[in-house]
Amino acid sequence: RTVYVNGEYLPETEAKVSIFDRAFLMADGVYEVTSVLGGKLIDFEGHQKRLERSLNELDMKKPAAFDDLIEIHRKLVELNGIEEGLIYLQVTRGAPGDRDFAFPDPETTEPTLVLFTQNKPGLADNPTAKKGIKVISIEDIRWGRRDIKTVQLLYPSMGKMMAKKAGCDDAWMVEDGFVTEGTSNNAYIVKDGKIITRNLSTDILHGITRAAVLKFAREAQMVVEERPFTIEEAKEADEAFFTSASAFVMPVVEIDGATIGTGTPGDVAARLREIYLEESR
Ligand code: PDD
Repeated sequence: RTVYVNGEYLPETEAKVSIFDRAFLMADGVYEVTSVLGGKLIDFEGHQKRLERSLNELDMKKPAAFDDLIEIHRKLVELNGIEEGLIYLQVTRGAPGDRDFAFPDPETTEPTLVLFTQNKPGLADNPTAKKGIKVISIEDIRWGRRDIKTVQLLYPSMGKMMAKKAGCDDAWMVEDGFVTEGTSNNAYIVKDGKIITRNLSTDILHGITRAAVLKFAREAQMVVEERPFTIEEAKEADEAFFTSASAFVMPVVEIDGATIGTGTPGDVAARLREIYLEESR
């Protein structure tokens, strides 16, 4: 696979980043995951806007202009022959010569920019979406700025492992009794035809797929309610699902051992997945 590091396209085995890189030592970096369908980037502009927001919130420099970044994305898709898959982009505060808690001077320390592709044939036609997935609930003990897409992913990784240990696929995190989001996705329930998902704030990541799906839902005259919901409410819901750039719309059929609706993907989730894939391609 050919990857991109700081201006160069290289075989992955030759790509190098300093051991003093702030992301390696301090998780001082932000990232984006953009999906590719039919060789085309999905929602590229949305991901770029969020990247800019993440960088601004952390006083980090943007390493390249929008046009350059889209060019790098397209070139990697082409070089690696990606029809369906993902592109991972990471920007870090760079590598000063030593470890220091204080941010380095942005005049002398350039940000690190890394991109790589992940080939995922069958991403759109994912058989899991026809079955649905099972989630457990766990306490959300992450930091308070989940709206910034940082590479501090240790707790979400632990959540994923807790889910696997319990024979499930993912974990929905709960804070003060209300679901925040999944380990790497936004969470939804459907009750009496109403789509309910947590409102945007610093408590959750502002999902690009979330924004697109809610727009399509409203255009299709579906009712959307943006507010927090509890696990108890979710267990009583007619449907549940999550959204992310890597899974699009994914039905959830079990929460903490309780069957949701009929235990098969619901109509609203299936329809939203279909609309999303159709409209994005
Ligand atoms: N994760 N919430 C969290 C905590 C996430 O990490 C993600 C995305 C989302 C969904 O956002 P979007 O629709 O923009 O992908 C919500 C990516 C896919 C990842 O970490 O791989």
